[in-house]
Amino acid sequence: MGTLLLLVAASLCFASGQHRELMDYLERRLQAIEDRISVWHEQSNRYATELREFKQLMTALTENLEQGREALHVDLEAVGTRVDRVEREMDYMETQNPAPPCVDVDDKLVEQEVTSIKEKNKAKYNKLSDCRDMISSFKAMKILKRVGGPKGVWMKDTASMLGKVYIFNGTGEDTLYEFSSMRDLAGSEGLTHGRLIKLPFAWGGMGHTIYNGYAYYVTEGKEFQLIKYDLQNCSVADSAVFPAEELVPVYSLSPETYVDLAADGEGLWALYATRDSGRNICLAKMDPGTLDMEQTWDTPCPRENAEAGFVICGTVYVVYNSKLPSRSRVQCVFDINDMVTSEEAPLVYFPKRYSTHSSLKYNPLEKLIYAWDDGYQILYKMVMKKKLEV
Ligand SMILES: *[C@@H]1O[C@H](CO)[C@@H](O)[C@H](O)[C@H]1NC(C)=O
Ligand SMILES: *[C@@H]1O[C@H](CO)[C@@H](O)[C@H](O)[C@H]1NC(C)=O
Repeated sequence: MGTLLLLVAASLCFASGQHRELMDYLERRLQAIEDRISVWHEQSNRYATELREFKQLMTALTENLEQGREALHVDLEAVGTRVDRVEREMDYMETQNPAPPCVDVDDKLVEQEVTSIKEKNKAKYNKLSDCRDMISSFKAMKILKRVGGPKGVWMKDTASMLGKVYIFNGTGEDTLYEFSSMRDLAGSEGLTHGRLIKLPFAWGGMGHTIYNGYAYYVTEGKEFQLIKYDLQNCSVADSAVFPAEELVPVYSLSPETYVDLAADGEGLWALYATRDSGRNICLAKMDPGTLDMEQTWDTPCPRENAEAGFVICGTVYVVYNSKLPSRSRVQCVFDINDMVTSEEAPLVYFPKRYSTHSSLKYNPLEKLIYAWDDGYQILYKMVMKKKLEV
C-alpha cells in the first residue's frame, strides 16, 4: 500500500512537470507570435505613412502639371489664333495675287459652270429625283475674298447654273450686290464694283436666300415680313407675314437672325424658333410661290450655342460654336424622313480652327457651302454620301 501511494505521488509529480513544460512552450510560441505581430504593425504603420506622403507628393505634382497644362493651353490658343489669322491673310493674299494665265485647282472647283443646257437640266433632275445626299466630311476650303463687314451672306442662286454671285453685307441693309461670276467677284476691287440692287425694304439678320431668280428675305419690324423679290425685273413678286408668332433668334450665337431661309434641291425651307418651341429650332417647308408654310417640324436641335444652319435633301444641319470662337462643328442633325439621326451622323468639324460663321448657305448644284466668316467669303467643298434606306 505504502509503495503504491509513493508511485502515484511520483507519477503526479512527473505529470505536473510535463504540464509546466507544455505551458512554457506555449508561452514562448505566443511571445514569438506577438513579437511578429508588433513588427507587422510597425511595418504597416510605416507603409501607411509612406503612402500618405507619396499621395501628398503626387497631388502637388498633378496640381503643378495641371497649372502647366492650363498655361500651355492658353499659350496654344493664342498661337492658334495668330496662326489662323496669318493663314487667312495668306489665303487672302493668294487670291489677291493670282497667277493669271493658269487656272488653279481651287478655281476649277469654284467655276463649275456647265455649258450645255441639257446637262444642266439632267443634273437638276437627278438632284430632285435622287436627293439622298448627306454630309460625310469636308474636302477642301477656299477663302475667296474679304469684302464687307463682320456679318453678312454671300451665295449663288441655288437653283441656277448662271453663276451670278450675290452679297448681302451687314445685318440690316437694303443694298444687294450682284457679281456676274465668282471670278468677277474675286477680281473686283470691292463691293461697289458689282451691280447694285436696291431693295424696297431692309433685310434683318442673315437668313436670306436666292432661289430660282428671286431673293427671299425677312424684314424685321413689329412683325416679320417675308419678301420675295424678283431679281430680273427688280420688283417685289410677293410678300407675306411670316406665319409663326413670337419669334426668337434661331441661333443664339447669331442673334440678328430670326428666320433662316434655305433652299436645297427640294425647295424652300425656313429655320426659326418661337417662344413656344422653347430651347429648340423649328423647321418649316415653305411654298416658294405662295410663301405659305406647307409643313412644320420640331427639331431636337437646341438654339443654344448654335451659330448657323443649312439644309441638304431634307436634312437640317445645325452648326455649333462657343462664345469665344473655337472650331465650328455640325453637332445636331435632323432628317424629316428619319433616315439620319444625330447619333448616326458623323460629328463634322469645320477645317479652320477658329471661326465664327455668321451664315452658311449650301448650294446643291455645286455641293459647296458659302460661308461668311468675320468678313471673309469662304467656300467649303463637301464630301457627300448617301443616306441609308430605312
Ligand atoms: C458693309 O457692312 C459694314 C457693316 O457691317 C459697313 O461698315 C461697310 O461699310 C459695308 N460695306 C459696304 C461696301 O457697304
Ligand atoms: C416682273 O415679273 C413678274 C413675274 O415674275 C411679272 O408678273 C411682272 O409683271 C414683271 N414686272 C415687270 C415690271 O416687268
